Amino acid sequence: MNRSAPYLKLLATVLLACAATATSAARAQAPIVIKFSHVVAPDTPKGRAAERFKLLAEQMTGGRVKVEVYPNSQLYRDREELEALQLGAVQMLAPSLAKFSPLGVKEFEAFDLPYIFPSKEALYAVTEGRIGRGLLRKLESKGITGLAYWDNGFKVMSANKPLLAPGDFRGLRMRIQASRVLDAQMRALGAQPVALAFSETAPALRDGVVEGTENPPSNMFTQRMHESQKHLTVSNHGYLGYAVIVNKKFWDGLPGAVRKQLERAMLEATAYEKTIAQRTNDAALESIRRAGTTTIHTLSPQQQAEWRRAMQPVYTQMEDRIGKDIVEAIRREANR
Ligand code: LMR
Repeated sequence: MNRSAPYLKLLATVLLACAATATSAARAQAPIVIKFSHVVAPDTPKGRAAERFKLLAEQMTGGRVKVEVYPNSQLYRDREELEALQLGAVQMLAPSLAKFSPLGVKEFEAFDLPYIFPSKEALYAVTEGRIGRGLLRKLESKGITGLAYWDNGFKVMSANKPLLAPGDFRGLRMRIQASRVLDAQMRALGAQPVALAFSETAPALRDGVVEGTENPPSNMFTQRMHESQKHLTVSNHGYLGYAVIVNKKFWDGLPGAVRKQLERAMLEATAYEKTIAQRTNDAALESIRRAGTTTIHTLSPQQQAEWRRAMQPVYTQMEDRIGKDIVEAIRREANR
């Protein structure tokens, strides 16, 4: 049967319209995917908070958003993840505050200064107040929106010899995060700092590439670092926390209602994270003790004072890099 040209043209138009409707309907149904990459184990404060955010975000958006959590450096390792976020290959991260200088935001290294926070309350006064908000705003020009701070508590030190006095660190190859403040901290103790990605740390301790490290107990235990560290000192000499960040273009491009629902999900996940951070680290330290692999030392007030004195020079060495104002503002706020 020969069909006229106008008929065929009409048929083609109708078919194209059907296809377009089907595509837009499919797009309307396809969830907005948030890839959330991080470098620690699921059973850590950050790992559990990421799962809690996933649960809340998918519930609160009624399924319009799907969160895919990739723990343990499965998707990206330390340095790679920041680049991936800026390229939009992932939408959300929660890097340690020690890892923002590659973005050119060196002020976050203030959180690495030894003994800068006398307590968790002092820390929260900074992160939940004007200073914390101001620091997150500095990320905007890098194409990143800072949503929240998550906590992983104070760090312990470990090695295969007791670390009780600053002199005990002399010559030790100590793994650190890639932070110039932590580099200065280890040099002030006479150690040789070795910056490694988190995913490389446990193997490096096992193989003797490095001899010791620092981290909160939850990271040490979940990566089984204690199996290669005969001694651990509960020094609480430094803090490890995170900024939860998203790709700004992605975030600004979300439908307003969805963004608001995700902000509420992040608020609730952050409150949850705050309630589990300390007890997760306490439980990890207890698990290390029970493993029997590692002798756990605590410092006397006299020994703590010696550690503080040894690391004090880090402040003057680093104030030009971090910014004297921000360091003074944090110290004022933290010691009010
Ligand atoms: C480290 O590299 O030691 C930590 O930043 C890992 C983490 O994300 O807690």
